[in-house]
Amino acid sequence: MEALKGVRILDMTHVQAGPTCSQLLAWMGADVIKFENPQGDATRGQLRDVPNADSLYFTMLNCNKRSITVNMKTNEGKAVFTDLVKKCHIIMENFGPGVLDRFGFPWEKIRSINPKIVMGSIKGFGSTGPYSDFKAYENVAQAMGGAMSTTGVPDGPPFVTGAQIGDSGTGLHLAIGLLAALRQAEHTGKGQYVEVAMMDGVMNLCRVKFRDHQRLQRGELAEYSVPTYKGMGETPRAGNDSGGGQLGNAIHCKPHGANDWLYVVVQEAVWEDLAKRVGPEVGMPDMATDARFAKIGDRRKNQNLVWTLLNKFAEKYTKRELMAILNPLDVPCGPIMSTEDLANDEHVRGRDMWVELDHPQRGKWFNVGMPIKLSESPALIKRSPTLGEHTEEILKEVLGYDAGKINTLKSAGAFSAPPKKAA
Ligand SMILES: CC(C)(COP(=O)(O)OP(=O)(O)OC[C@H]1O[C@@H](n2cnc3c(N)ncnc32)[C@H](O)[C@@H]1OP(=O)(O)O)[C@@H](O)C(=O)NCCC(=O)NCCS
Repeated sequence: MEALKGVRILDMTHVQAGPTCSQLLAWMGADVIKFENPQGDATRGQLRDVPNADSLYFTMLNCNKRSITVNMKTNEGKAVFTDLVKKCHIIMENFGPGVLDRFGFPWEKIRSINPKIVMGSIKGFGSTGPYSDFKAYENVAQAMGGAMSTTGVPDGPPFVTGAQIGDSGTGLHLAIGLLAALRQAEHTGKGQYVEVAMMDGVMNLCRVKFRDHQRLQRGELAEYSVPTYKGMGETPRAGNDSGGGQLGNAIHCKPHGANDWLYVVVQEAVWEDLAKRVGPEVGMPDMATDARFAKIGDRRKNQNLVWTLLNKFAEKYTKRELMAILNPLDVPCGPIMSTEDLANDEHVRGRDMWVELDHPQRGKWFNVGMPIKLSESPALIKRSPTLGEHTEEILKEVLGYDAGKINTLKSAGAFSAPPKKAA
């Protein structure tokens, strides 16, 4: 049985941060009702690659959901919404600040309709504090949560990371909060409001950078390959440094293309074997006993030489060949995988992390699979819904409306956008 079978979610989320969360919950078996503006989630039409088809932006974030369109700017639409709130265990949204209030449904109103419901909200900066009125997208959150100031190299500009830590990262945080609140509601019969601010989520993911921020009050950061000093004030950008207690960096390999790199962690325990293997090929047969690398402190101090030697060693190997040399020595390492590498990787396919689906508008396409593997309830990934595909089904099956009532609501514009005014 699916882990969340029987849990019904009223999912008002859009774009990426919220839909990431509700897609995961749907993959765990929740009945996720995507409650859409009659124009649809804006991402349906964004970055389209197939004319008139839902974009990959939308399809990759909205699998296993049902779609209903409801116009919340009509009284009839609000009545449908109220009925759905009564029938759901969770409601979630990631609108800009104030949108729900403008609908006339702040949290206090929603909980008065269904006291057991759990409500999840994602905001750029939460509902309190000087930034709470601002909207946010991924890179705004990366900028304000500490990720950008700590990504890149010291004398270059701050960089965003490719991983969507502001949007998808916040969605993950919300999923944890919703499941905890749902469990509590089962015991107490009382729901609660679960809020995750994107800025807070990014700060949480940058935790080790705040570790280093405080360490700088006591001294330099010896493991950093870039200059640091006591009292420096802010954690610097440190390129591809490992960020942990072990030294690490990316090594450029043959044929030296954009992704011909291997990330290598020079773990203390493997140093001797690594130095014995590398030393003779780089003209340093005594590397394993060289005083400059004797202890971890020495290797930290001379780490730029360590990386120079490893890069020299790597000159005649591809990233895969270097990996094959280092794996038997137990050296933690991994090739920098391009999206092309990953889409064709046997390991990835074997773990159902690149899943082929079919869609009535766009045909065959791939989605990244479910990264959380439940042994008794494996995810069965199904395509995303077309806009309003399940409107009637939900009205009948979840709300028990009959055809007459549905037609009356339809004529009143409850499920459609108001007609455009003539120019
Ligand atoms: C992402 C974001 C910047 C997008 O901004 P936006 O496109 O202006 O969208 P908003 O959420 O502010 O507003 C949505 C509008 O659609 C309307 N709308 C949404 N669902 C509707 C429905 N079912 N019926 C009628 N209108 C609807 C809302 O009323 C609102 O219009 P209003 O401003 O006139 O009240 C903003 O939603 C935001 O900051 N969200 C929180 C942070 C977040 O999640 N960001 C990451 C997204 S990946």
